[in-house]
Amino acid sequence: TTERTLVLIKPDGVARNLTGAILARIEAKGYSLVELKKVDATRELLEQHYEEHVGKPFYEPLVEFMLSGPVVAAIFEGHRVIEGFRSLAGTTDPTTAAPGTIRGDFGRDWGLKVQQNLVHGSDSTDSAEREIKIWFQ
Ligand code: CMP
Repeated sequence: TTERTLVLIKPDGVARNLTGAILARIEAKGYSLVELKKVDATRELLEQHYEEHVGKPFYEPLVEFMLSGPVVAAIFEGHRVIEGFRSLAGTTDPTTAAPGTIRGDFGRDWGLKVQQNLVHGSDSTDSAEREIKIWFQ
């Protein structure tokens, strides 16, 4: 069964002009782009998106980071795309994310309060559905 996932290219990825390179990897793996836009996030939108992190020590730095520049939001589609994109993205910490992954190849620790790890991908069908509603009307 075909599923959809929400992918965000975070402000670090956009600022470093990696949007095309990141989208190309997702397409090259075989997933199809359904929707794509550049967005200036708002505090309200981010509070919905990161509801599970509200109150955590990195929440405020995370929001400030996500407000620091435009984000690219995309919907990708394909069989097992949620799992497949997360594998392509690599683990959360870009310092140790495996080479060959987006975070492993393009990311590093810049010594900031929040990990700047280039991309976000939904972690389940429920969160994909929820997040797609938040970012796409
Ligand atoms: P992501 O998993 O996409 O969504 C939550 C983000 O918060 C995560 O990416 C990192 O950017 C950031 N994050 C998660 N855990 C930590 C942490 N322990 N310290 C700093 N930043 C974090």
